[in-house]
Amino acid sequence: MLARRSGRSLFAVSSLALTLSLTACGGSSLSSGEGGGSGDGSVKIGLSVPLSGVYASLGEDMKQGFELYLEEHDSKLGGRTVEVVNADEGEKPDTGVPATTKLVTQDRVSAVVGLVNSATALGLRDSFEGAKVPLVVANAGADGLTTPTSDYIWRTAFTNGGVGEALGAEVAEEIGAGSVYLLGSDYAAGRESVGGFKKTFEAAGGDVAGETYTPFGTTSDFQPFLNKVRQSGAKAVYVFYAGAEAVNFVKQFDSFGLKDDVQLYGAGFLTEGGALAAQGAAAEGVKTSLHYSDLLENDTNAAFVEAYQEAYDEPPTVYAVQAYDAAAALDKAIEEADSTNGEDIAKALGDVGEIDSPRGPWSFNESHDPAQSYYLREVTSSGGTLGNAIISTLGE
Ligand code: PHB
Repeated sequence: MLARRSGRSLFAVSSLALTLSLTACGGSSLSSGEGGGSGDGSVKIGLSVPLSGVYASLGEDMKQGFELYLEEHDSKLGGRTVEVVNADEGEKPDTGVPATTKLVTQDRVSAVVGLVNSATALGLRDSFEGAKVPLVVANAGADGLTTPTSDYIWRTAFTNGGVGEALGAEVAEEIGAGSVYLLGSDYAAGRESVGGFKKTFEAAGGDVAGETYTPFGTTSDFQPFLNKVRQSGAKAVYVFYAGAEAVNFVKQFDSFGLKDDVQLYGAGFLTEGGALAAQGAAAEGVKTSLHYSDLLENDTNAAFVEAYQEAYDEPPTVYAVQAYDAAAALDKAIEEADSTNGEDIAKALGDVGEIDSPRGPWSFNESHDPAQSYYLREVTSSGGTLGNAIISTLGE
């Protein structure tokens, strides 16, 4: 159900809520191999995103993006009324794996959308293959999710390595002879993001001053790590942090006094949405790479930003777009499959063609990831509002 943060458009909210609860009362066939749906033409979709832990705000954005797509499409995907079954991914695999598994084994959904944490998604990959149910990953960027390719794993997001790789040559050029210190959360996402950056940065002649990974989910005091950066004499820093970790890191980078001397770069999650709002002026001047900014200029994004702002009273984020696009991909696939069977839907995901996304049009590549552009963004203030201004398209 649409959990709006503002009281606006309440009529639209309650009409969707009614549709969904009526669907839920309609009952559904759980016969094996059929997947979640029913003779009345509905389809059951699992939505597993963090509603608790350091990534809770990301999960809320994804939920909002997914629900906005449904609201704009008469609560239907592929012509079938959708019953959304929600699960709380939480912070790590110990919560995310069982909560998501239940959607398949007990709720018998036809497909699952969501997953923020790479470690959680990696822990689920084989069971989705085994169950022959499609998992449309709407955030987690682990390279190993889509390499090797699986018939059942599709991703509407990015690869962690790809976001980092996009920025390496640009930073090498911007800082010239100086060196860069690398920092990230100590799990697949931080290591792959930093690894991707390092690869293209060093290939472009850049020097690495040091590399440190901070315990994920338990680090709130970054001072010891910021000390290492200062002592290294680095001219710039590249980091991977998201959600609550991104808020603490950027604020402490500023209050520790590094901001004046050291340029902060990162994967764009660092300054996205709620994180940027909480960081405030401390984030000004931070430069990042990402495949989206709400300030991106194209017609689809203009309409999306307006609708999202109207629905939730805040600008959309990359997380919202990835979940909105997951709904768009499933809409086409369920239509094409004309079935609620997971295997049929997974097959049809290969034929969805171009997705008309707020990030710009994209299609799945050979590994089932979006073929897309990455942008260099800089946090600037316009009329007193901070945003991720698009500076250039990276790699062009
Ligand atoms: C990931 O675990 O892959 C991940 C988490 C949060 C982000 C991006 C990637 O913002």
